[in-house]
Amino acid sequence: MNFKKIFSIDYDNNHLILKILCFKLKFKTNIKNTKPNVQGNGNVFNVAEGIQLSGFVQGNNNKIEIDKGWEFGTNFNFYINITGNNNEIIIKQPYNVKNCIISIGNHGEINNCRIFVDEMTSMTDVRIYCFQHNSNLTIGKNCTFSEKIQIRTGEYPHLIFDKVTGEYLDKDSNINIGNHVWIGEGVTLLKNASIANDNIVGCYSVVTKPFTETNSVIAGNPAKIKKNNIDWVKNQRFLDKNSIYYKSFQEYQLKNGEKYVGNDSKYSINKAD
Ligand SMILES: CC(C)(COP(=O)(O)OP(=O)(O)OC[C@H]1O[C@@H](n2cnc3c(N)ncnc32)[C@H](O)[C@@H]1OP(=O)(O)O)[C@@H](O)C(=O)NCCC(=O)NCCS
Repeated sequence: MNFKKIFSIDYDNNHLILKILCFKLKFKTNIKNTKPNVQGNGNVFNVAEGIQLSGFVQGNNNKIEIDKGWEFGTNFNFYINITGNNNEIIIKQPYNVKNCIISIGNHGEINNCRIFVDEMTSMTDVRIYCFQHNSNLTIGKNCTFSEKIQIRTGEYPHLIFDKVTGEYLDKDSNINIGNHVWIGEGVTLLKNASIANDNIVGCYSVVTKPFTETNSVIAGNPAKIKKNNIDWVKNQRFLDKNSIYYKSFQEYQLKNGEKYVGNDSKYSINKAD
């Protein structure tokens, strides 16, 4: 047996092992859809390639639809648990979503809830709790949800009554967030909270009621309007060169020695419309 030959055989084997390892690694890093653990009938999942979905569904006729993520996005992972029937979660093309937890039902069955998140909305460590039957959460296009935000459409299973009349009080529980709304870090949105288009909610605010005014800063606990006639842009990529904001930002940047100011690419948009 010739030494060179043995060496060459060994080398080839190693090469083959390396190839198999690379293939396995490639296979592992190529994210696949993972269906949550399901118990029940008629549950429909329509989840795009590249979306990481885990959690569980216990009940019947629930529907989860998540579109393919936006091209700039790097994370698209959801943990969804549903205990109940006829609930619907629809997420249109997300911008960037990291650790979004959606919980419908927890201590008992919750039925007929609808969560709709429109396209280009980003979220990090956002927790959505739908613990009230028939409650709706609607989030518009092009919103920025910062980190550690919690959204609660009701207080179930805890019950609140008027002590004198005995009336059950915790009824209306929908939450509506408009287009192009920036929700700061640590914000809590409670039942009945609604935020109209083009608003900012300051960090660690607690929103307990509807705000119909647009272009304001809403902040505090409980949240109130702090400022009117503001507008905001997600980041420089979205700063339109033809907008009235561009010149002012450019002057500010140049004063600070920054050369790059926005761009005029096909992504330059100012509003969600
Ligand atoms: C709201 C925010 C964006 C500032 O907007 P702004 O237009 O510059 O507002 P100002 O700093 O001029 O503040 C306006 C008023 O709101 C108040 N305010 C601002 N943020 C507040 C907050 N989070 N809670 C309570 N009050 C707040 C200010 O005290 C001020 O009140 P005053 O008029 O009585 O003095 C900023 O305060 C904030 O919350 N930033 C954090 C956003 C975030 O979470 N980013 C994470 C990355 S996505």
